Amino acid sequence: MFGYDFLVIGSGVAGLTYALKVAHHYPQAKVAIVTKADENESNTKYAQGGIAVVVDRTSDSYEQHIQDTLKAGDGLCNPEIVKTVVTQGPKRLRELVQWGADFDRKSNGKYDLGLEGGHSKNRILHHKDITGLEIEKTLLSQVHNTPNIKVLSQHFAVDLITQHHLEPRPNDLSEQTQCYGAYIFNAMTGKIETFTARITLIATGGVGQIYQNTTNPIIATGDGIAMAYRVKALIDNMEFIQFHPTALYHPHISPSFLISEAVRGFGGLLRNKSGALFMHLYDQRKELASRDIVSRAIDSELKKSGDECVFLDCRHLDLKDFKKHFPNILQKVNEIGIDLKQDMIPVVPAAHYLCGGITVDESGQTSVENLFAVGECACTGLHGANRLASNSLLEALVFAHAGYLKSVELVEKIIIPKNIPSWNEEGTVQPKELILITHNLRELQVLMSDYVGIIRSKERLSRAASRLKVLYEETEALYKRTKISPQLIELRNMITVAYLVVQQSQARKENRGVFYQTNPSDGMVYN
Ligand code: FAD
Ligand code: SIN
Repeated sequence: MFGYDFLVIGSGVAGLTYALKVAHHYPQAKVAIVTKADENESNTKYAQGGIAVVVDRTSDSYEQHIQDTLKAGDGLCNPEIVKTVVTQGPKRLRELVQWGADFDRKSNGKYDLGLEGGHSKNRILHHKDITGLEIEKTLLSQVHNTPNIKVLSQHFAVDLITQHHLEPRPNDLSEQTQCYGAYIFNAMTGKIETFTARITLIATGGVGQIYQNTTNPIIATGDGIAMAYRVKALIDNMEFIQFHPTALYHPHISPSFLISEAVRGFGGLLRNKSGALFMHLYDQRKELASRDIVSRAIDSELKKSGDECVFLDCRHLDLKDFKKHFPNILQKVNEIGIDLKQDMIPVVPAAHYLCGGITVDESGQTSVENLFAVGECACTGLHGANRLASNSLLEALVFAHAGYLKSVELVEKIIIPKNIPSWNEEGTVQPKELILITHNLRELQVLMSDYVGIIRSKERLSRAASRLKVLYEETEALYKRTKISPQLIELRNMITVAYLVVQQSQARKENRGVFYQTNPSDGMVYN
């Protein structure tokens, strides 16, 4: 049994920022960060475009960033949260810069601000096209210099510990659920260890891997959301899966490489296979309409033509300048034989971001006591039905700060019970073969892509629900009789989050933001 004051699950921007803040505030406190892969593996590491912050209030304003966020969110954002996040942006950015993060500047010393879809102003700070890597490296180096933080990689959170686990069980379980830490699978020893904590933070990121085509790395399996759901935390807005319009079309390569929206901000144009521009047919902002609109437009073009991809045309752009801004993207397309002066980049939409997640209040507190959630796994009210580009790194920084403030207010009052049992794996055996897991995983990804994609329908959703039920039953049976492996836990979690996406899609009555459902009469015409 390991005892901590703060247990942070996940080492992306959300988990690392929160850990740094609580550890600096309480140098005597014991802080653990558990993370299931290498310490830097995360969605954060792959973020390209940057972070949306109003830094120049002569050419931009909080009000404009707020309005852009609200417009993208299609009426479902919480305006108070939007205001808080936008207005706190500059402070949180300054902190990140003080920790060592470097954002590109122009020759006059001012930040070089990029433009992305849905933004009425250039306000995206970036480090070339590898902003996430810069942020992840900066935060990790700070964490390594903070003696009271222990980073445990290859440590996989399996389940949260609540009063329902205690032995003997309390007579009255009716009071609000309280979290006392988590059971963690140590991949180095193959054992499940008990980590108790006064405060637990879920910062496990998104769910992109429930789809066949996604920009998310393999860690994005929704573990934290599934764990929270199992202890009955509130989960909301799961139907709002954001598809990024321009993932590189490179069949059989997963995850999909992202061609940043900033490339369209830089002048890249979308054309169909016959070379025709088409975005003007869908929105007057053309290539820089918000993502839901661009993704649906591409989907519609592909359905009409039967083609497998559309193209991003950069042939007219200044290649030298392009290289300066997007060296990583240029290197990738060159590697697969694309010469930007002559060739267009084949692109398709891919699952990219979860706008919903574990419901939290303005401090990042979930509906379970002592349990916080920050980052992509959380539903804060910022994104509503559709996240505005580059608002998620910002959200993670702002809510990590809010969560830290609330946590230090609460932590000293929290007492961990003594009677927490170890993980019980009695009656389980080593799995004989992994094919049952990998086959069900493939099936899950195909059914989510086919039936719960950019355009949904009642019929497809109900098909998805019945297929998911079979996968759920088979996987639960396997889970009960076999010893735990990361693959099995992930599959189980992915089925849970897929179920939540389908269930909450079925409950939604009208189309909003990234949620679009056809009805038989509308013939898929977008307005
Ligand atoms: P993550 O960074 O995903 O970190 C999650 C962590 O949890 C990982 O360390 C993971 O290993 C760990 N974990 C997961 N499950 C478990 C478990 N069971 N046990 C232990 N550890 C676990 N947003 C922007 O604002 N601007 C951008 O330019 C941008 N570009 C993007 C480009 C790409 C290709 C992608 C995929 C996303 C992009 N996003 C961007 C979105 C943004 O990167 C993410 O929303 C954000 O980084 C999420 O941070 P996080 O800390 O919540 O989660
Ligand atoms: C991108 O660079 O296009 C990704 C930005 C984001 O997801 O916010």
